[in-house]
Amino acid sequence: MSELSVNHLLGIKYLNESDIQLIFETADHFKEVINRSIKKVPSLRDITIANIFFENSTRTKLSFELAEKRLSADVLNFSASQSSVKKGETLIDTVNNILSMKVDMVVMRHPNPGAGIFLSRHVSASIINAGDGAHEHPTQALLDSYSIRERLGDVAGKNVVIVGDILHSRVALSNIFALKLQGANVKVCGPKTLIPKHIESLGVGVELNLRKALEWCDVANMLRIQNERLDINYFPTTREYTQQFGVSKKLLDSLDKEIVIMHPGPINRGVEITSDVADSKQSIILNQVENGVAIRMAVIYLLASKIKQ
Ligand code: CP
Repeated sequence: MSELSVNHLLGIKYLNESDIQLIFETADHFKEVINRSIKKVPSLRDITIANIFFENSTRTKLSFELAEKRLSADVLNFSASQSSVKKGETLIDTVNNILSMKVDMVVMRHPNPGAGIFLSRHVSASIINAGDGAHEHPTQALLDSYSIRERLGDVAGKNVVIVGDILHSRVALSNIFALKLQGANVKVCGPKTLIPKHIESLGVGVELNLRKALEWCDVANMLRIQNERLDINYFPTTREYTQQFGVSKKLLDSLDKEIVIMHPGPINRGVEITSDVADSKQSIILNQVENGVAIRMAVIYLLASKIKQ
């Protein structure tokens, strides 16, 4: 198979295993490109991409922009906080105005779950979901699995635990879909109040004891508490959360094997992960960021190939 089964990247839920392998193989090529002295290819000289962000971002926004520029696409950056959205303009009107400028692809981050799906039904451009509320963050999950594959050789058969605020995390849901599609064994770990009811129906296990979860896994993906999405108190204090669900070097060193530590960022040092873990050789956090550019180049390139047909 040499093309994706989808015309938009709205969520991992809509991909199949072959799509993921095609994205990884394409990213392997682009990773080699971005490590050359000349890091740019002329592949998308005829494509214009708008990055529209209705929520804050550091990694995703910069990574998409860099990926687009490395592919020689023309790039428009739109930040809702500095736009006419502040004067009451709707999402559809905003995007249709941008599309009138002959834009082929829209990368969108939005606080509302399903915003990308809604947009894909109302506009002609190809849509990439860069995070929609607590729903999905597909390129994050792709770069996470790609980073596991790079460090451990394969994702199939690996034991991966996702630790923290599962309830409010788009990274958790996209990772669960991606890891299960590739044949990994997945558990979630965190305070019971932050584990969605019926999550086992997605084929994942629940472990409330962090030590047991770490003893089981090959990889621990540490998530931050999504304070911006908490409407009530889900645990007594941050100090108690850290005592029960924070990973320290002392805890890692007490295990009888060396596990891989991941984090999508932004990190809250000293809360879900200590600095000596984040900066240790077990951590692949900055490899994840580097791989994000290659993965996003692959996704954009493969979706743009379908526009050109
Ligand atoms: N991982 C991630 O989505 O980070 P940003 O919010 O900084 O884009």
